[in-house]
Amino acid sequence: MRPFDGRRVLLGVTAGIASYKAAWLARRLVQSGAAVDVVLTRGATEFITPLTFEALTGRAVHTDIFAPGHALDHIHLARDVNAIVVAPATADFLARAAQGRADDLLTAILLATTAPVLLVPAMNDRMWAHPLTQRNVATLREIGYTVVDPDVGPLAEGEASGPGRMPEPEAILAHTGRVLDDGALRGRRIIVTAGPTREPVDPVRFLSNRSSGKMGVAVAAAAWRRGATVTLIAGPLEVPPPIGVAVVPVETTQEMADAVARALPGADALVMAAAPADFRAAAPAASKIKKSAAPDRLELTATPDILATTRAQRAAGTVVVGFALETDDLLENARAKLAAKALDLIVANDAREPGAGFAVDTNRVTLLARDGQAEALPLMTKAEVADVLLDRIEALLRAR
Ligand code: CTP
Repeated sequence: MRPFDGRRVLLGVTAGIASYKAAWLARRLVQSGAAVDVVLTRGATEFITPLTFEALTGRAVHTDIFAPGHALDHIHLARDVNAIVVAPATADFLARAAQGRADDLLTAILLATTAPVLLVPAMNDRMWAHPLTQRNVATLREIGYTVVDPDVGPLAEGEASGPGRMPEPEAILAHTGRVLDDGALRGRRIIVTAGPTREPVDPVRFLSNRSSGKMGVAVAAAAWRRGATVTLIAGPLEVPPPIGVAVVPVETTQEMADAVARALPGADALVMAAAPADFRAAAPAASKIKKSAAPDRLELTATPDILATTRAQRAAGTVVVGFALETDDLLENARAKLAAKALDLIVANDAREPGAGFAVDTNRVTLLARDGQAEALPLMTKAEVADVLLDRIEALLRAR
């Protein structure tokens, strides 16, 4: 099952040089399972041809509100979609949309639709910063459109000092996923931890573990897609952090514990998917330990248990989820951790199971609830495991 299976997305393209990236976006939307109807403004056809999009989407491309035989296109196109994405959206298009004009097919569709609208501006950095553009963006946000902030980076005309550049298609795809979702976690604040932590032995060496951060990143991405405000507290990750979430980078277990404690007030849920290092060097050396002076032993001491030390700081209604990676007596050990760390749910996985554990993209887990219920899931991608987990978290939040 692909994320956008059965969904219809209308992709509007306006007259910006970034329209070349809209072709890749159209392809990624189709690959994600969406049926994609493309509408080009007249100016956009100066940059890119309808034929490009017709070939990529396998569907007719629309450009003209006055085309004979197509008088009601704007009504049909506006009615039959699950989301409208305009990328790139030029300054001129934002101005016309903010005024509620209907002087071409794309603006007419915007007025005639009840589907969620995502606008992805791209323009010269000074045009973006202009008070009139900013006022138009504020108006469009006020009426409920999602307007993505442009990136900072090189523009077609050279280096820019401020934002203006269109975000990459992969980021737009993530935003599209969020507007297509029914947003059951809107208004919720969720903290997710991910990855390993590192405990210094000396300035160049550390103790750590094999965690890649993939599971936590999948949970953070899925929570954001469902509308939550997400803080991802992460040790060094092997994968890029997801779009839309606030990332708090940390190094040691103590730093992760401090960051969790700071984020906890007001949080609706805490998902501890990280694998914090359980030990640190008792006395890390201030300078590099030379081979010739290597000690025979390294004295270790325990790091704080984050779930245990934050117990007192958790508000009564906060849903707390832990993970247990075991090599022996999986369910028994996981149940003991659920009780000892006062969790609502624990995700138990066997490190020796093929396709489960660190580094891989799949996982086979059993969800254990506080009431004793056990739900053994089949081998799934980590993204799918994250979705099942968030279904359970949503149910727990509703029951509060
Ligand atoms: N955890 C934590 N603080 C730590 C270590 C782990 O909060 N210092 C969290 C993990 O994020 C996970 C849960 O506790 O959600 C269980 O982690 P795990 O390493 O399986 O358990 P430990 O308590 O470290 O027990 P053991 O190493 O003895 O299995």
